[in-house]
Amino acid sequence: MIETYKKTVEENLEKYFDERLKNPEYKLFRDVIESMKYTVCLGGKRLRAIFCLEACRIFSGNYEAAIPTACAIEMLHAQSLIHDDLPCMDNDDLRRGKPSNHKVYGEAIATLAGDALISFAPQIIIEKTPKTISFDRIVKLLYEYSIAAGAFGIVGGQTADIEAENKNEKISLEHLNFIHKYKTGALFKFSLVSGAILGGADEKQIEAIKEFGEKFGLAFQIKDDILDVTSTTEEMGKTTGKDENSNKSTYVTIFGVEKSKEKLNDIIQKCYGILEKYNMKTEVLQKIIDSLK
Ligand code: IPE
Ligand code: IPE
Ligand code: MG
Ligand code: MG
Ligand code: MG
Repeated sequence: MIETYKKTVEENLEKYFDERLKNPEYKLFRDVIESMKYTVCLGGKRLRAIFCLEACRIFSGNYEAAIPTACAIEMLHAQSLIHDDLPCMDNDDLRRGKPSNHKVYGEAIATLAGDALISFAPQIIIEKTPKTISFDRIVKLLYEYSIAAGAFGIVGGQTADIEAENKNEKISLEHLNFIHKYKTGALFKFSLVSGAILGGADEKQIEAIKEFGEKFGLAFQIKDDILDVTSTTEEMGKTTGKDENSNKSTYVTIFGVEKSKEKLNDIIQKCYGILEKYNMKTEVLQKIIDSLK
């Protein structure tokens, strides 16, 4: 199922960009569309898209209605990566095993491509979601999107992350969890909630999946922080050892690798607990959690 989800998302992403790229009207800003497509279609694990499709399937029995939203989520995710890699942010030259967006298109186009992805994502949700989905659900979904994408989601988290860099003393665990909740948790939460909304979940189910999304996001970022230290640039397709070099606060800089692994394991158990409690422990969700071990 994971492979089917991944293939579906990648085929549709390709299609959404190519529809625009072949339009002669856009020839004078074709570069920005190509730059957007470059990072979005460069691969990646597609975990957030998979979460969205699976959440829709859990509540409705099928995932088709969530395909445009799953693609939109990958666009927003790619935006966060393009901007995260800019010299004014993490200054990373490598992403998904290839030169970062600004290395190929320059900083100006990379910045614009990120901006444009934030608005292309909801455009695709509105244009491509099947008309069988009610306006009420679409509005609810777009409301959650606007929270996740902006100052009260990823942007807020990235702000707190950048401001915690180069501090003389270590930040508190509470402070770090706050950063991770917004910079990484917000998008995982949206991925699951959007699928649940499209699948017709009720309020209680939406709350449950939000709780899972937030916990998973924290676990995911702890794992990313650990891999930054224990993995190689070749394995990751992005420069490792970066967090320490740029004086970032991460689980590893605060607790060290072993203790971070213990803490990660505790959160993974909590993730399973939520899925069991609300009867959502599907093979797909379980496999993705297992991949963090
Ligand atoms: C990278 O996310 C950004 C973080 C939140 C750590 P992923 O590790 O999911 O990146 P891709 O999509 O697989 O490239
Ligand atoms: C980034 O966290 C989270 C985003 C919102 C992009 P990192 O800065 O640790 O992500 P990587 O390691 O560059 O993928
Ligand atoms: Mg960063
Ligand atoms: Mg980074
Ligand atoms: Mg990282």
